[in-house]
Amino acid sequence: MPGIVATLLLVSLLSCHVSGQRTNGPLRKAAVTGHITLGTAASARHLEDPNYTGILVSEFAQLEPENEMKFARVHPERGQYDFRAADALVSLARAHGMAVRGHTLVWHRQVPPWVSAGNFNPLQLNAILREHIATVMQHYAGRVYAWDVVKEAFNDNGSLRDTIWYDQPGVGYAGMGTRYIEQALVWAHRADSNAKLFYNDYGAEVGNAKSDAIYAMAQDFKQHGVPLDGIGFQAHVDLASDTPERLSSFAQNLQRFASLGLELHITELDIRLRDGSPASLAAQAKFYADIAKICVQQPACKVLQTWGFTDRYSWIPRYYPGMGWALLWDAEYHAKPAYFGLLTALQGPSKSF
Ligand code: XIL
Repeated sequence: MPGIVATLLLVSLLSCHVSGQRTNGPLRKAAVTGHITLGTAASARHLEDPNYTGILVSEFAQLEPENEMKFARVHPERGQYDFRAADALVSLARAHGMAVRGHTLVWHRQVPPWVSAGNFNPLQLNAILREHIATVMQHYAGRVYAWDVVKEAFNDNGSLRDTIWYDQPGVGYAGMGTRYIEQALVWAHRADSNAKLFYNDYGAEVGNAKSDAIYAMAQDFKQHGVPLDGIGFQAHVDLASDTPERLSSFAQNLQRFASLGLELHITELDIRLRDGSPASLAAQAKFYADIAKICVQQPACKVLQTWGFTDRYSWIPRYYPGMGWALLWDAEYHAKPAYFGLLTALQGPSKSF
C-alpha cells in the first residue's frame, strides 16, 4: 500500500512539474506576441502517446476535436449521446489553459446511419437537428467558446450543396437558399448565447465563386441580425497556392469579411506535399509563414489553427493518395522547417491597433 501511495504521489508531482513547464512552448508564446491564438485539431485516440500530448499542450493555446464532436461520434444512435472522447479532449485542454473550438454541428458527412438511412421527413429531421444542436451545445456551454455551426454548405461554383440538411430532404427549407443555415444559427444561439457561431468552408480562402457566395450570405445575415459571429477558412492547401496573386487575394478576401464585422479564423491549415525533399520542406516553410503573416496582419483574424500537428497522424495520405508531409512536426516528432517558418512569422511585426 505505501508503495502505491508513493507511486501516486510521484506521478502527481511529476505531472504537476511537467504541466507547469509544458504550456510555454515557443510557438504558443510567439502567437500571443502576434495577437493570435494558435490552435490545432487533436484526436483523443492519440492522447496516450506522450510525445503527441506533450507537444499538443505546450505549443498550442487552442484545441479542436478532429472527429469527436461530429454527429456520428457524439450522437451515434437515436436518443444516445456519447461525449466521452470529446470530454477527454476538453478536460485536457482546460487543464492546460487551452481554449476549445467546437467542430461541427451541421455537416453532410460523418452523419450516422440512424439519421442518413432513417427515411425521416423534413419535419422529423428539423426536430432531430434542433435537438442535436441544443444537446451538444448545452453539454459544452462554458467550455467551448466557438462552434463551426454549419460547414461546407456551398459547392465550388457558389451554389448550395445538396445535402440531407438542405434539400435531401432537408429540415424544411429546401429550395430556400441559405434559410436552413440561418435556422441552424438561430438554434445554436438559443442553445448557448455566449458561444461564437461560425460558418466554415474549404476552398474559400481567395476570391472565387464560393467565397463570393459565402460573403453574400454573411452580408445578408449581418443585415438581418442573424447570429453569425465569424467565418472559418479551412486552408487545406498545396504549394500551387503559394503565388503572390493568391496570397494577396487571400488577404483581400479576409478584409472584405472583416469589414462586415466578422471574426475570422483559419481553422484547418495544412500544406500537403508530394515528397519530403529539402526543397519541398523549405517551400512549405515559406508558405506557412506567408499564411501566418496574413492572419497576423489582419486585426479580425484571431485564430490560426492547423489540422493536426504531426505527420504521424495527418489525414492527408488517406484522402490525397501520394501526398503527405503536411504538418509542422514529422512522423518522429522532429520539428520541421515549417515549424521554424511559422515561429518566425508569428514573432514578426504584429497587428497594429
Ligand atoms: C477529417 C478528419 O481529419 C479525418 O480523421 C476523418 O476521417 C474525416 O474528417 N475538413 C474538415 C474536417 O472540416 O472535419 C475533415 O476531417 C477534414 C476536411
